[in-house]
Amino acid sequence: MSKRLIVAIDGPAGAGKSTLARRVAERIGAVYIDTGAMYRAIALWAIRQGIPCDDHHRLESLTNHARIEFLPGHGRIALNGEDVSSAIRTPEVATAASQVAAISGVRKALVTIQREIATHASVVMEGRDIGSVVFPDADIKIYLDASTDIRARRRAAELAEKQIQVDFNDLRQQIEERDSRDRNRAASPLLQAADATYLDSSNLSPEDVEEEILRIIRSKTSNGKVLVS
Ligand code: DC
Repeated sequence: MSKRLIVAIDGPAGAGKSTLARRVAERIGAVYIDTGAMYRAIALWAIRQGIPCDDHHRLESLTNHARIEFLPGHGRIALNGEDVSSAIRTPEVATAASQVAAISGVRKALVTIQREIATHASVVMEGRDIGSVVFPDADIKIYLDASTDIRARRRAAELAEKQIQVDFNDLRQQIEERDSRDRNRAASPLLQAADATYLDSSNLSPEDVEEEILRIIRSKTSNGKVLVS
């Protein structure tokens, strides 16, 4: 790849962003960054420290002191030197992450790290505000969506694979509440950037969505400077 490329993938919880972002990053030789994992890591630390999710001042300070690193391997993440990749995947942490993510000071600190990562590598970055706020000039912007029912079913299956048992209706309700908080907050709410391509993955296989995203990347980088294998 001769030019650094930024692919932004945004959308609500369970739309398939992580799977797709990881696959696309592998195909184009870019670094995969799961920004939700960063908000989850801060939320996990806050829970462990007993800091309430509405204590803006302490949470901002916690974020400024957090050492977040992406480890080699499929989107693994370390917080202050500890691999927390599994610990951040509980429904409790998901809810806390959505609350912590509404704090502008927390977002500011994490967005700085996200921008820094892309200064030395091509990235496929997924989250809620990547195409709208973090990289408004991203080369490719995708807004990935799916029906609430399908998203809840996918999340339930992911958690079951990790031996985390949840009641389906509770999970569906948690996802709806989280979406509503992520969409309606004042600081960088979840929204589709005006120039993002909307993809509904409800009735598509991950392979189909992957090919569609690669097609979009190719069509937008067809000046011969960027090679997508
Ligand atoms: O993608 P996820 O479910 O792991 O994200 C966890 C929470 O973090 C989500 O409810 C909203 C928040 N988030 C955010 O506000 N901005 C991002 N770029 C990524 C995630």
